[in-house]
Amino acid sequence: MMENVTFHDHKPESLSLYDAVVQGLSKRQKSIPPKFFYDKRGSELFDQICQQPEYYLPTVERLMLDQYVAEIADLAGQGRVLIEPGAGSASKVRLLLDALQPSAFVPMDISFEYLKTSATELAEEYPWLSIRAACVDYTHSLPVPENVPVGPRLLFFPGSSLGNFNKQEACKFLRLVHTTVGSGGMLLIGVDTKKNYGVLNAAYNDAAGLTAKFNLNLLYRVQNELKADLNPDNFAHKAFYNTEAGRIEMHLISKLKHTLRLDGHEFKFEEGEYLHTENSYKYSPEEFISMAAMNGFKSLRYWVDDQGLFAIYLLQSE
Ligand code: AVJ
Repeated sequence: MMENVTFHDHKPESLSLYDAVVQGLSKRQKSIPPKFFYDKRGSELFDQICQQPEYYLPTVERLMLDQYVAEIADLAGQGRVLIEPGAGSASKVRLLLDALQPSAFVPMDISFEYLKTSATELAEEYPWLSIRAACVDYTHSLPVPENVPVGPRLLFFPGSSLGNFNKQEACKFLRLVHTTVGSGGMLLIGVDTKKNYGVLNAAYNDAAGLTAKFNLNLLYRVQNELKADLNPDNFAHKAFYNTEAGRIEMHLISKLKHTLRLDGHEFKFEEGEYLHTENSYKYSPEEFISMAAMNGFKSLRYWVDDQGLFAIYLLQSE
């Protein structure tokens, strides 16, 4: 065991897959929340999506972090407690660690297994870094382990993960971040921009079909983990940009009229019926900065790549 890493299980009390599926399929507009995409296979598929040419988000964000890290460090200063909700493999934060020299790094993830592996690897790679890994469901709370140093905080939230929240939930999350970092605390966040819908539609309908597999994997989970009587082949992937709502929507469309059975429940699907699996909201810089301002953050600086594909914001809590 490495000496520079500790683990903290905050036992996230979130809805189980079973409860989420029963609740979600009982509604008139059927839905399952996107956080259930990420079992082992789903996380692997997401990593593969991130390598598709159409899914520009992580590539552009990485280039920008690399390009602006010195500027970010100048504005944030060194020695902050760096917190990353949903850190997963913590691959993007590696671009920041040397420049930011955090007093501690707090990776948070909903999967304790994944967190243990990735935080241990990080600890080996960065022997000078003190890591306080916490098992947390960030859609509920952001509990910071008690053994982190006192001092200014910086919360890192890359990948446009904010897009999964609706506007009201996004505001709530920003207020939670505000409380977590405290006054003078900072937020470094990557958010996908509004843009030509052709570019957006292609990003969620990659030619290799990985987004479709990722979406359908949800049904394999329900089949395998919950022993539901269901045929994933009865559903097709659908993703499109909803211009009015400013978001990508992902659905699983029932190809035929059929019934899905789960533990005594019967869920009837019409031919062509939509099961909603994800929203991915897009924000213009003006929209995002005003939403952040309504929730206690002032924008110190923000960066947009030269094609306007992605934005990174450094904000300070007031
Ligand atoms: C991880 C929520 C940022 O919305 O772009 C990728 C997830 N879904 N392709 C996104 C996702 C389909 C992704 N986020």
